[in-house]
Amino acid sequence: MTLRESAPRHIPWSEPTALQIVHAHLGEQGPLLPVLHALQETFGYVDPLAIALVANVLNLSRADVYGVFSFYSDFRSTPPGELRVQVCRGEACQSVGGRALAEHATSSLGVDFGATTTDGSVTLDEVFCLGNCALGPSVAVNGQLRGRVGADEFDRLVHPGTSNIGFA
Ligand code: FES
Repeated sequence: MTLRESAPRHIPWSEPTALQIVHAHLGEQGPLLPVLHALQETFGYVDPLAIALVANVLNLSRADVYGVFSFYSDFRSTPPGELRVQVCRGEACQSVGGRALAEHATSSLGVDFGATTTDGSVTLDEVFCLGNCALGPSVAVNGQLRGRVGADEFDRLVHPGTSNIGFA
């Protein structure tokens, strides 16, 4: 399986489906976080329209829902790219080249952290530890971990038409 084939399967935003998801969590204690996670797992992101919808069904204010949504950096408000690339910016990785890798990642993809390339193929995110500190700089692509990643390997992983043989 290639990296692109390993991308999570999401469905397009649908208000009826979103409503079903929210209603499935009614009656739970503290349903807001599970609802937001379920929406993101289903659609790949939390559509801005979901904020009002969730607030309405859970009898919360939009500010409450948005506050929780925006507090957790893992929640996205736009659809993710085919490849989700997470570059570790934790201390251990920073000390072995992670800073240079982070700069290379943004310039190679032409986007800042938290953004998706204009062709929709790659979403670049930063994380602050992937649990692979001894083998930094660490990167995860669609959840698959890679250690000791330099600029050349980064480009092989993220640019179309290059070999993903390490994950095949
Ligand atoms: S600090 Fe990068 S994997 Fe832990």
